[in-house]
Amino acid sequence: MPYDLIVIGSGPGGYVCAIRAAQLGMKVAVVEKDKTFGGTCLNVGCIPSKALLHASELFDEAGHTFGKMGIKVGAPALDLPAMMKFKDEGVDGNVKGVAYLLKKNKVDAFQGVGRITAPGKIEVESANSKTETIETKNIVIATGSDVARLRGIDIDEKRIVSSTGALVLPKVPAKLLVVGAGVIGLELGSVWRRLGSQVHVVEFLDRILPGMDLDVAKSFQRILQKQGITFRLSSKVTAIDSSGPTLKASVEPAAGGAAETIEADVALIAIGRVPYTEGLGLEAAGVKLDDRKRVAVDAHFATSVPGIYAIGDVIAGPMLAHKAEDEGVAVAEIIAGHAGHVNYDVIPNVIYTFPEVASIGKSEEELKAAGVAYNTGKFPFTANGRAKVNLQTDGFVKILADAKTDRVLGVHILGPDAGNMIAEAAVAMEFGGSSEDIARTCHAHPTLTEAVKEAAMAVEKRSIHM
Ligand code: FAD
Ligand code: NAI
Repeated sequence: MPYDLIVIGSGPGGYVCAIRAAQLGMKVAVVEKDKTFGGTCLNVGCIPSKALLHASELFDEAGHTFGKMGIKVGAPALDLPAMMKFKDEGVDGNVKGVAYLLKKNKVDAFQGVGRITAPGKIEVESANSKTETIETKNIVIATGSDVARLRGIDIDEKRIVSSTGALVLPKVPAKLLVVGAGVIGLELGSVWRRLGSQVHVVEFLDRILPGMDLDVAKSFQRILQKQGITFRLSSKVTAIDSSGPTLKASVEPAAGGAAETIEADVALIAIGRVPYTEGLGLEAAGVKLDDRKRVAVDAHFATSVPGIYAIGDVIAGPMLAHKAEDEGVAVAEIIAGHAGHVNYDVIPNVIYTFPEVASIGKSEEELKAAGVAYNTGKFPFTANGRAKVNLQTDGFVKILADAKTDRVLGVHILGPDAGNMIAEAAVAMEFGGSSEDIARTCHAHPTLTEAVKEAAMAVEKRSIHM
């Protein structure tokens, strides 16, 4: 008997979709080419990077702030292999968790590369080149994304690395060159800076974190510079000579001009990610791609071929695990005849550095460009009691609310634990809440979340602690 649904790819999009479909009574299978489930996120993305961010942040604190709190531990010593083991064990626990959940929900798993040979037919080629064809009523493509490469620069994952290589470096590079001041560059740049590297970031644009509220990005850059990371904006790396003992990178102004040489022990290429559709047989199956080689889908995740859907990094939208997960749930519900839906206006974006950066909804630049009149409420962590006593006062909360209706349009937090705090804004926005709704909601004292309440009060210029 054919399956009701086969999902190709077991990342956050794919495995969540498979589980939701099984909950809805479908006979489901996943096809995964890698040895473990969980995709980029669990194996070489979110989970290992957060493990290293957590461990390196504590290492940094032990060296710099424990003393101020009366904790005498001496200078902390780094045991990098042990830190890597801690990270690997975290990954292992998570990928095994996905295997357990798939089994618990009676989702069959096929290990191998899946190729769509016809609507309803998938050929799976396993590592030993054996092939088998499985049949299904519906297919969800959840094959994710891959590292974007720089022309003429070979990523060997040893000295010239992508995020994947940067998560397994065997020793702390004395000099780390990061190409791209996006999320990966700043998160992994922070990890290695804390562990002892001199980190230099080259960014093509005249700002870091394109897309993020500019006010936040500028303040964040200043904080990172205070921590020791150096930046060269409006510049591009055009070549890297790896013939000698140190790498020699040619760096030019973005607009063109004379090249300079920057030396480094390791170069991290973090200039974005591209949809992964290799070997899927999409062209032969008639599945259309968009202008950026992403699988083209309609508002119900349907591709150009009936019965074939796509979700996650392989389609348009932010390349985020929680976006992929929500699409996985929505498409499973749509296939089951329910009304699955993702609200793309309310997707949080978090950068897990210290301090963290979290944002949701529109930036000031987006509101200005759209001609929307808005009010701004801003509150700094220097005026928050908990942040002060914790000696963590860098950053602020900014709330943007519609000038006429007071509806919250965007929330931007630069500060400790911003990633957890943004959830409050997400709920408020999902319910169409106003800044006054947040301002009149009782927030526990003393917590960092009081800064969110105060920023909401600041929209009406009535914050108390400023
Ligand atoms: P993926 O997770 O990429 O999974 C796709 C799966 O499909 C893979 O397992 C792949 O092996 C499999 N596959 C591909 N082709 C085939 C085929 N033909 N047959 C069988 N299997 C196939 N996002 C966040 O939200 N928060 C974070 O903190 C975060 N940190 C990140 C850190 C790093 C270093 C990186 C690289 C990414 C990070 N991301 C983060 C992004 C996040 O990992 C992705 O958005 C997410 O994994 C996308 O999920 P997906 O299911 O669409 O695809
Ligand atoms: P990114 O798109 O966030 O940043 C890439 C940066 O590189 C941009 O600032 C861009 O202007 C710059 N750039 C592009 N070409 C360049 C060049 N030739 N020279 C110099 N700079 C150049 O991509 P990144 O950091 O690689 O991350 C990929 C994806 O992974 C992101 O879309 C993100 O959503 C996801 N991710 C999410 C995380 C999170 O949610 N915390 C963590 C890590 C990754």
